[in-house]
Amino acid sequence: MIGRLNHVAIAVPDLDAAAALYRDTLGVKVGAPQEEPDHGVTVIFIELPNTKIELLHPLGEDSPINGFLAKNPSGGIHHICYEVDDIIAARDKLKASGARVLGTGEPKIGAHGKPVLFLHPKDFTGTLIELEQV
Ligand code: CO
Repeated sequence: MIGRLNHVAIAVPDLDAAAALYRDTLGVKVGAPQEEPDHGVTVIFIELPNTKIELLHPLGEDSPINGFLAKNPSGGIHHICYEVDDIIAARDKLKASGARVLGTGEPKIGAHGKPVLFLHPKDFTGTLIELEQV
């Protein structure tokens, strides 16, 4: 059902420092910060030859990243995103197999302008999974 790995999202306590690390130390092209108020994050996209990295930083007091950084003060992998062809069909199949979909269960428009859903990490070996319809 799932397809390619679309991105790995890494929560970071200092966006500028993380961007400099990827740009200067790891030697990759790093985008400009983009604010995503609907998701409570500021994101920097990094294009790699086979996937993307997203650096996530909290935007606002209700950001879902605040709690994560409280537990992981130096940052860490926040979620991984798999591509699906049909997000509604994927959601219904997963729900039927007992997996929990976060939030209302309805897809939101994600950082790439495409529908996304998140799956409960406790149902997926401790990993928060994002599904993105491509
Ligand atoms: Co993501």
